[in-house]
Amino acid sequence: MARIPENKIQEVLTKTNIVEEVSKYTNLHKQGRNYVGLCLFHADQTPSMIVSPDKKIFKCFSCGVGGNIIQFVEKINNLVFPLAVIKLAKEYGIDLGNVDDYIPKDPYSSEQKLLFKINEDATNYYQAVLYNKVGIMARNYLDQRQIDRDQVGQWQIGFAYENNLMQHLLGLGYAEGEIVKAGLATTNQASQKTYDYFQNRITFPVKNKDGYVIGFSARVLDQEKPKYLNTRETLIFKKSEVMFNIDYVLKNKERFANIIVLEGFMDVISLTKIGYPNCLALMGTNLSAFQINILKQLKKPIKLFLDGDGPGINAMYKIAKLLINNDLEFSIVDNLTAMDPDELVQTNQVEALKKMVDHSINVYEFFLEKFTLNEVINVDKKTTIIEQIFALLKYEKNLLVVDGVFDQLSNKLNISKEILINSFKQKQSQNLQKKVTNWSSPQILNDNNQFSLKPKTRKEDMKLKVLIALLQSKDYLTEIKDNLVYLAGADQHSYYFQQVCNTLINYYLEDKYQGNDLERFFSLLSAEKSKLLQTSVAQLKMILNQPLAKENFKMHLSSKGLEDIIWQAKFDQLNQEISDGNDELKALELQVDQNNFDPDKVRVLSGEKSKKQKELLILLKQKSELIALKNAKK
Ligand code: UTP
Ligand code: MN
Repeated sequence: MARIPENKIQEVLTKTNIVEEVSKYTNLHKQGRNYVGLCLFHADQTPSMIVSPDKKIFKCFSCGVGGNIIQFVEKINNLVFPLAVIKLAKEYGIDLGNVDDYIPKDPYSSEQKLLFKINEDATNYYQAVLYNKVGIMARNYLDQRQIDRDQVGQWQIGFAYENNLMQHLLGLGYAEGEIVKAGLATTNQASQKTYDYFQNRITFPVKNKDGYVIGFSARVLDQEKPKYLNTRETLIFKKSEVMFNIDYVLKNKERFANIIVLEGFMDVISLTKIGYPNCLALMGTNLSAFQINILKQLKKPIKLFLDGDGPGINAMYKIAKLLINNDLEFSIVDNLTAMDPDELVQTNQVEALKKMVDHSINVYEFFLEKFTLNEVINVDKKTTIIEQIFALLKYEKNLLVVDGVFDQLSNKLNISKEILINSFKQKQSQNLQKKVTNWSSPQILNDNNQFSLKPKTRKEDMKLKVLIALLQSKDYLTEIKDNLVYLAGADQHSYYFQQVCNTLINYYLEDKYQGNDLERFFSLLSAEKSKLLQTSVAQLKMILNQPLAKENFKMHLSSKGLEDIIWQAKFDQLNQEISDGNDELKALELQVDQNNFDPDKVRVLSGEKSKKQKELLILLKQKSELIALKNAKK
């Protein structure tokens, strides 16, 4: 396998956009020079992941994970390095030549393979124990749940008796540390003794997409809690990537008309038994980015089949939004009972269940029905329902579907379709407008019914000048490119400005655009893949048609003029950073005060404080240098 040349890797790093890439998986918000969002690599409650467009890196301040865009793609898609580079190159149209040479024969590291092997040996051992004398209780339990010997074999179900797997694995030649790494044993910190992780539980092996056992979900025989204990996070068991039965479904997808997505793996086992082998379980009610990617790979209509109770419906709503947003074709199995699919099979309701599955319904119909069920529909309630349905419709690309939903909403809520459509449009354009405008002033009709322009801020005025200069010619291409981060500034609309300028710069570099041709620019922009760019052309046209913009088009920005703008942008940014830094310092001081009873915490906080102070000193020095520079030029 050949290595991807370093200059190609550099090209991928420079031509890609980390903010855009991360935004595909989590919502990012501009904060200062950076973007923040919920971390994708741990269960994040408050946004702790920072993405820096300047440094082209991401970093989570809570779990510590971080790196450049290639490392991000490696982690989020669980890819080895060359495959991550290839994926990015494809997305951004970067030519790597013949990529076949770079594709590794074996995607797994030797450490991962060792952990697969330990888990496989554990699977075999647990299976043997189930049919031992000590397995009698477990066999009884499986009988009672109508899981027969064939199914036990099919799913490789086993039994973790007391503390004896470790001994067995040591006997096979594995080291204690390796067994712990595989998640099959844990070391008690106090006694420093190592024990089996699973004890007195029925074991269900969980496999990855390639069919390797990555861990287990293990059930108690009684009412103990937790009901299921899952392998903790290991090198090969990542909770957010688990999908029960994925290996089988991937291998057999061609003969399936659709894929049924369930909540628990017991549901998969039961549905397979009654003739639906096309099932996957999420093992919980969250749908991760990894799982969405797998569903995309399957390219089959999905049937979402969760519990029919309140939490089940909430979970379905959350998942439905993600599925629509990702353009996945799906319908919902309307479970009118209070039972899960497995319980329906247990209680001999197979016929009813089959009917539900085969007659799964359209997502909007489903939620309209659920939201209006047994409810007094007053005005407030109507508004809530409309908002909830709009939140789903927002991502819908099929206009016929949208139209149909308006009809239904109109009928159900007794509101005219026109009003619904208008209020939807209003919402949509508000969302888009928020992203696009403001960096240049909005249009205001003056008394003579002409568009007038009140420059909102100096910053917006500067941005407009820069964009126009760049549209006119490539005279300042390098200066603008090198200083784009400063010129864009830190407000929430800077991302859009950067995107437009970067795209334009690339047109010049690729010889697609030669300057002074707005029509050409707009037609290129309309053909862009990025939705934001594509859909914002109309707004951009408006901005560039304003009188002030037209004035600027008549002129040519002097190089001194651009220099001043760049200086001012840098100066503004430094001031902003200094002011942010001061705020952070104050916050740290307050925390020191509040924690003065906890010496450990105070030590950590003081460390952070002195780091912040040093950063501030550097910023102040930069500021005085910048001022000196200006004075020297005068
Ligand atoms: P359920 O509680 O719906 O499981 O959780 P179930 O399949 O109906 O279980 P039985 O029928 O009582 O045996 C659905 C999924 O959530 C995860 C499991 O993956 C389960 O398949 N779960 C549930 C856990 O990980 N831990 C738990 O304690 C409970
Ligand atoms: Mn159940």
